[in-house]
Amino acid sequence: MGRDSLAKDLTLEEFARFRDFIHQQSGIYLEESKLDSLRISLVTRATRLEFSAFDEYYALLVRDHKEFSELMNLVTINETSFFRFPQQFAALKDRVLPEIMSAKPETNRDFRVWSAGCSTGEEPYSIAMTLLDAGIEGLGWRAQVLGTDVSTRALAVGQKGVYGQRAMLNVPKQTIARHFELVDDKYRVGEQARRLVDFGYHNLVKEPYPLSLMGNWDVIFCRNVTIYFRLDSTRRVVSNFFNSLNEGGYLFIGHSETLTSISDQFEPIEVGGVFLYRKTRTKKRFVISTPRSEYHAAPVTSAMTTPERSRRRHAVTRSQPVAEASEPSGTEMLGQARHSLAEGHPERVLDLVGQVLARDPNNAEAYLLAAYVHADIADHEQALEACHHALSINPLLPVARYILGIIYQRQGDTVRAISELKKTMYIDADFALAHLNLANIYKTQRKWDQAAREYENALRALYRSPEGAWTEFLGGFKADLLAKTCERSLVECRKAMGAA
Ligand SMILES: C[S@@+](CC[C@H](N)C(=O)[O-])C[C@H]1O[C@@H](n2cnc3c(N)ncnc32)[C@H](O)[C@@H]1O
Repeated sequence: MGRDSLAKDLTLEEFARFRDFIHQQSGIYLEESKLDSLRISLVTRATRLEFSAFDEYYALLVRDHKEFSELMNLVTINETSFFRFPQQFAALKDRVLPEIMSAKPETNRDFRVWSAGCSTGEEPYSIAMTLLDAGIEGLGWRAQVLGTDVSTRALAVGQKGVYGQRAMLNVPKQTIARHFELVDDKYRVGEQARRLVDFGYHNLVKEPYPLSLMGNWDVIFCRNVTIYFRLDSTRRVVSNFFNSLNEGGYLFIGHSETLTSISDQFEPIEVGGVFLYRKTRTKKRFVISTPRSEYHAAPVTSAMTTPERSRRRHAVTRSQPVAEASEPSGTEMLGQARHSLAEGHPERVLDLVGQVLARDPNNAEAYLLAAYVHADIADHEQALEACHHALSINPLLPVARYILGIIYQRQGDTVRAISELKKTMYIDADFALAHLNLANIYKTQRKWDQAAREYENALRALYRSPEGAWTEFLGGFKADLLAKTCERSLVECRKAMGAA
């Protein structure tokens, strides 16, 4: 029998035999409607191996894992894309990453993500790019992303990390500029992201998962993989994910998937319209991870000078009465606080912030506003404390890092100032004022080339992000004045470099 007879003759019985084997081995359940596509895959492999009957091919398939792997390359559906369902990547950056980072002890600076069913690599690379854009490495953390799949062909594409024009269609230009290199007419994932990502073969339905390799994940992405599984396989896989996650870790599933009737072990969390699934912490650990609940303003003492006392009066305290349900929400109160700030009423801002914190001690934004006000009235200690509280809730707040940098600079602690300003830039590369202040420090240190580079970066950031978070620190100044200052200082530095 040749290829033609093979192509004609996949009986329903034979189909069921292959289907059941594939299901048992991979979790993928091929409905009867897939008979034609399975026949094409079987004929392709059987012909390549010069078999003339499906029986012969079946006999090889069950005893040879390599052949099973070849068939999986044809049977699996590898559809994927960079930043597929972008809201999930926003949730990773804005919610999950800060939450997990702030809960880890100082001795643990690892952030590990597993992309299970990663196909051709777009998903793990998108995760790596998201972590890099959040500035995680600049803050001294080690990020690791593992992509696994049963398709060795898909994994090989991921390992290569080179993609055609079509794969880039929905990738924002800024991301392309930051994370890809153009090689001929293709896009190669940049070194920084490649460094974070490893690829490996792993079959999700083969148990047990080796914990040394597969345990201790902070986040697991398994999107659009188990949609091809039957319920019992999905339940087992999801239960294995639960065991492989750290406490407080998150599972990301496809946006059209749900864990209802699959697992009740996870806590569903809604972030920006998407559902994520958190492995709840045990009570004990949760209590330990909230030292910020001790935040108090320093008491007013009679030894203080009058201006100091008046400043202390503005200090945030959490001893205010808890608000009634009918009162405005925390978000509304912070809106009012921001308004009061613009109107020049720092006492009112601190009063509102105190009320918000009395209700919600984990409100990073409230601490940020407090830090801003304290810094403005030169109450450095209170401002530092409020910044540290904000950062203990979310370590990825560029504004808090920037305020720390400015205060250290004012206190003459340039080493710490430089470190915080750099951290600000790691989190938000377009924070123009961080570049400018760093440039000013280098200039006073007569490090002309470093200063010149930072003035250039400040100018670039200014044009790239004219409405970025940094603008709230402009006071009454206009951005064009800032640009002129940078240009003038740049000329000075270049002259000094020429003279040296
Ligand atoms: C549709 S792709 C999804 C890719 C990516 N997660 C996304 O959402 O863009 C599904 C992937 O799951 C993989 N897959 C299917 N069964 C698997 C199994 N048992 N173990 C690991 N990966 C599997 C397939 O090879 C395929 O690459």
